Amino acid sequence: MLDRVNTEVLKFKKSGIRKFAEAASQIPGVVSLTIGEPEFNTSDLIKGAAKEALDDNHTHYPSGQGLLSLRQAVAAFENKQCNMDYKAEEVIITNGSTEGLAACFLALLNEGDEVIIPQPMYVTYQPMIEYCKAKLVPLDISSSDFQIDEGALRALITEKTKLMVITSPNNPTGVVLNKKSLDVIKAVALEHRIFVISDDVYHQLVYAEHFDKLSDDVELRHLLIVAQSFSKPYAMTGWRIGYLLADAPIAAHINMIHSYLVTGISTFTQVASIKALNEDTSQVRELYRQRLIRSMQILDDYKIDYVKPEGAFYIFIKIGEFGMDSETFCNKALHTYKIALVPGIYFNTSKDEYIRISYAVKENDLYEGLRRLGVMVKELRDEKNR
Ligand SMILES: Cc1ncc(COP(=O)(O)O)c(C=O)c1O
Repeated sequence: MLDRVNTEVLKFKKSGIRKFAEAASQIPGVVSLTIGEPEFNTSDLIKGAAKEALDDNHTHYPSGQGLLSLRQAVAAFENKQCNMDYKAEEVIITNGSTEGLAACFLALLNEGDEVIIPQPMYVTYQPMIEYCKAKLVPLDISSSDFQIDEGALRALITEKTKLMVITSPNNPTGVVLNKKSLDVIKAVALEHRIFVISDDVYHQLVYAEHFDKLSDDVELRHLLIVAQSFSKPYAMTGWRIGYLLADAPIAAHINMIHSYLVTGISTFTQVASIKALNEDTSQVRELYRQRLIRSMQILDDYKIDYVKPEGAFYIFIKIGEFGMDSETFCNKALHTYKIALVPGIYFNTSKDEYIRISYAVKENDLYEGLRRLGVMVKELRDEKNR
C-alpha cells in the first residue's frame, strides 16, 4: 500500500546518527561517542516535582499553548537571560525543540520558499523544510572559521528567501557565532524581512562568561523565533519538553499548527519543568568544560585536527588526510577499532572530511574512545607512509 501514502514522507531517510548508534549497540565491546545527550539523570528535585504533580492530579488536558504558570516562568527566565520583554502569550511549550522547530517550518514555509542555513547543520532541519516543499539553501561557512561572511550570505539572498536558521553553539561544531556574524544576519534579516529561527538549545552550555546572541536583540524581535529545550541543560531528553518564543502574532500563528499537532504537552511534565528553570546549570557546564579541555589535550597529543568548540558537547574532528569519506572512516572505526563515531556528512557538510564525537557520554567511554581513535589514526598514518 506504500503507493498510496504521502510521497513526501517516503523521501525521509532514517537519522544517520541513530543508524550508527544502533549498529554500534549490536557489536560487543564498542565504545559509543555518538549520541548528543547528557549521561546524567534528571535531578531528584525535578523528578520529585513530577511525582508531586501526578499526586496532585495534574493529569488532565493542558492548554495547547502550554500551562500559563510554565509559560510565565519561561518568559521570566528568558527575559532575565536575554534582557527581553516576552510575555506568557508569546511562549509555546513544545514536545522538545524538535516539535517546536517542525511547527515553525510548517507554519512559516510555503512551497518554493528558500531557507538559508549555515553548513554544517543539525540533522532535523532539512527533512521538515523539504516536507514543506521549500528549498534548503546551505551557506558554506567552513572556509570562514565557521563564522558568517557577509558577501557569502548576501549572495544567497533571493526574493524567495523566507527564513534563516541559526544554531549557536552549533551542533556538530560547537562553534559560537561572534558579534560580527550576528550583526550580518540581523542586517540582512531586517533589510529583506526574513524570519530568523535561533536554535538556542545549547545556550546554557557556552563556556565563555559572556557570549553574543540574537535572542537578546529587541530590533529583531518581530522576525525572531527562539527554539529552546529542557533536554540538554537539565538532562531531560526523555521528557520531551521545550519551548518557542516569538512576537505575539507569530506565536499565535505557530500555535495554530502546534495545537493540531500535539493538543498539548503532558501536564505533570510541564508542572515539573517550572522547577528545572530554577536549577543552577553552572556545575554541569564546568564539568563539560573540563572534559573538553582533556579531550582536546588527547587529540592534540595524537596530532588530530578539529574545529575548536566553545559550547555544546561535540567535537568536529578532521579526517580529510586519510583519503576516505566520513562514512567509510566511521565504518572502519566501528568494525576494526570498536568506536562508534558520527560521519560528518550527516550534518550536510560542504566537504566530506569530518566526523563528530559527543563528550556528553560516560567519562570512561570518552577517554577510551579517544584512545582508540588515536590508535586508528596512528595506524592509518603508518599505512600511508609505508
Ligand atoms: C541543535 C539542536 N537543536 C535541537 C535539538 C533537539 O532537541 P530536543 O528535541 O530534545 O529539544 C538538538 C538535539 O540534539 C540539537 O542538537
